[in-house]
Amino acid sequence: MNTYIPEMCEITGVRHEAPQVKTFFIDWNGKYEPGQFVELSVLGYGEAPISISSRYGEPFALTVREVGSVTGALHRMSEGDYVGIRGPFGKGWPMKAVRGRNLVIVAGGIGLAPLRPVIKEILANRDDYGKVILLYGARSPWDILYRREMGEWLPHINVEVTVDRSDVDAETMDWGAWKGKVGLVTRLLEETEVPLEDAYAFVCGPPIMMRFVARGLIEKGFTSHRIYVSLERNMKCGMGMCGHCQLSGRYVCLDGPVFRLEEALRFIEKPEETAGVMG
Ligand SMILES: Cc1cc2nc3c(=O)[nH]c(=O)nc-3n(C[C@H](O)[C@H](O)[C@H](O)COP(=O)(O)OP(=O)(O)OC[C@H]3O[C@@H](n4cnc5c(N)ncnc54)[C@H](O)[C@@H]3O)c2cc1C
Ligand code: FES
Repeated sequence: MNTYIPEMCEITGVRHEAPQVKTFFIDWNGKYEPGQFVELSVLGYGEAPISISSRYGEPFALTVREVGSVTGALHRMSEGDYVGIRGPFGKGWPMKAVRGRNLVIVAGGIGLAPLRPVIKEILANRDDYGKVILLYGARSPWDILYRREMGEWLPHINVEVTVDRSDVDAETMDWGAWKGKVGLVTRLLEETEVPLEDAYAFVCGPPIMMRFVARGLIEKGFTSHRIYVSLERNMKCGMGMCGHCQLSGRYVCLDGPVFRLEEALRFIEKPEETAGVMG
């Protein structure tokens, strides 16, 4: 099999998540782990790395924000259209290490997409994990991803959501004015009691958010080598061949995108080096 050649797969469903964000269900049969990504291609437009937002065994899904050429073309597609998929690529979240332990998940914006398979995996095997808490920050109430299914997560894990701004017009919002928390996810972290004993943390969002969340976790007494972050970097091949994603001698596509904080610090402490920004 030539890993440079995409497999053409049919879009079987499209779900609107938030403004400029849709989840695409695609008929692709690859095997994958939480936190891995694929290279998605749209004929005539090119390829983009996208995290897998489904749990293996459930319909394969990608949650995509429309930002430019490839993602814009994808957003104009619908059920029955075909896209190319290569992968899966990269190293995902260390799910084995977390078994039997407590987990703090912190996500910002579209950074919740690569963490959704982690949540789904935990829900499918709830007794295998300790206390699990999700802290999620979105720009506004409209931007909250997976709103409908969050209700299903609630009985099983602790979910706390905050929005940066809440200027909701109750008359135009079909789900009512926002009555939840307002402020950055870093403040939510400050205010929330998180398990520290035998706990891991998985963090994904814009580099600046990950930097402050990591600092906040450490200030709370979190052990730094148990904090993992998912990094973004402009990519081409996705498999360690082109050098496009190289940072300080490491390939984000091959050695990541999930890194232990200690290793990732040299990237996120220099956000100007990190070309791709999630959130
Ligand atoms: C490992 C990995 C996983 C990713 N997972 C997801 C995901 O699950 N969902 C998702 O929506 N996106 C994800 N991204 C980001 C996604 O790859 C980019 O948004 C996409 O490549 C942009 O392609 P484009 O052709 O649409 O935009 P382009 O036409 O290439 O760019 C349009 C504009 O977007 C900016 N841009 C380019 N790359 C990014 C980027 N990475 N983030 C933000 N702005 C960018 C450009 O600077 C330009 O201003 C991921 C990226 C990586 C590296
Ligand atoms: S994208 Fe080619 S080496 Fe990482």
